[in-house]
Amino acid sequence: MTRALSTVASLYDRVRSVIPSIEWPAFSDDIDAILALKAKRNAVILAHNYQTPEILHCVADIVGDSLALARKAMTVEAQVIVLAGVHFMAETAKLLNPDKTVLIPDLEAGCSLADSITPEDVRLMRHRYPSVPVVSYVNTSAAVKAESDICCTSGNALAVVRSLGAPRVIMLPDEYLARNIAAQTKVEIIAWKGGCEVHERFAASDIQELREAYPGVTVLAHPECPPEVVAEADFAGSTAAMSDYVGQHKPARVVLMTECSMSDNIAVEHPEIEFVRPCNLCPHMKRITLANIRSALEETRHVVTIDPHVAERARWAVERMLFV
Ligand code: 13P
Ligand code: SF4
Repeated sequence: MTRALSTVASLYDRVRSVIPSIEWPAFSDDIDAILALKAKRNAVILAHNYQTPEILHCVADIVGDSLALARKAMTVEAQVIVLAGVHFMAETAKLLNPDKTVLIPDLEAGCSLADSITPEDVRLMRHRYPSVPVVSYVNTSAAVKAESDICCTSGNALAVVRSLGAPRVIMLPDEYLARNIAAQTKVEIIAWKGGCEVHERFAASDIQELREAYPGVTVLAHPECPPEVVAEADFAGSTAAMSDYVGQHKPARVVLMTECSMSDNIAVEHPEIEFVRPCNLCPHMKRITLANIRSALEETRHVVTIDPHVAERARWAVERMLFV
């Protein structure tokens, strides 16, 4: 067996609990090619927790939630960054690495939250609420970030709001995240009407039914879920916080009210835990595949670019968040 083949075979040992052996041959050729291309191109792959296990566990160099990816993007030494995630994440990596080549394997990998608000909308909000600071979720375009005072992720939103020391804060664009944060602070939160098409579909009744069908199940929810869902859950937090919760508390049986790949990716680390799996797929995250990661590295596509005037202001809002 060649060295490359033995590497790919040992990777399968890692994911065999979530990828049937019959599917593996469809992945192994691309994995082998991607590992070689990364070395040849001096490239790293940053992957969000919603990527499928063959991406997250077999080719990614840096994995995590939106906050971790932003933080770790700043430490990258390679010249090429492939972002296995959605477009706003690739823009954030580019903002923090203006001199590097940042690639997104599919330009159509968008986000319903990022699509829900424009820079003009932010300017109108500022006009309506003069001198109220604007906190933009990282799930926004660079152009929207450029109109904002500071960014936040689901992992630091409460700390960011508190850091401003203001009695009122505009929080864009996720209405549910804004309401979930409002429930934890006395700061008045002015929300926008955006929603995550994956998380807004969960209902509190889903959790009640799950608790009846699976006695003792621990329920974790992402804060992009409706407040009624968060209230019914045992814990709410970012994708990294959910993963940490499972690792620390080791519940015998758990359900994650979030994107489907999360359970697969955590199950790889915790084969002893029973994952109950009603979940919703993010069609944007699922546009990223091993095949288009390979093409991205072979053909240097699609290169992420940001207007320098937009980038300068957007970078400031992202970097400010990283110091909270
Ligand atoms: P986090 O990984 O920051 O929790 O974000 C979830 C999400 O929806 C990203 O698109
Ligand atoms: Fe956007 Fe929701 Fe998909 Fe995350 S899961 S990329 S917030 S649509």
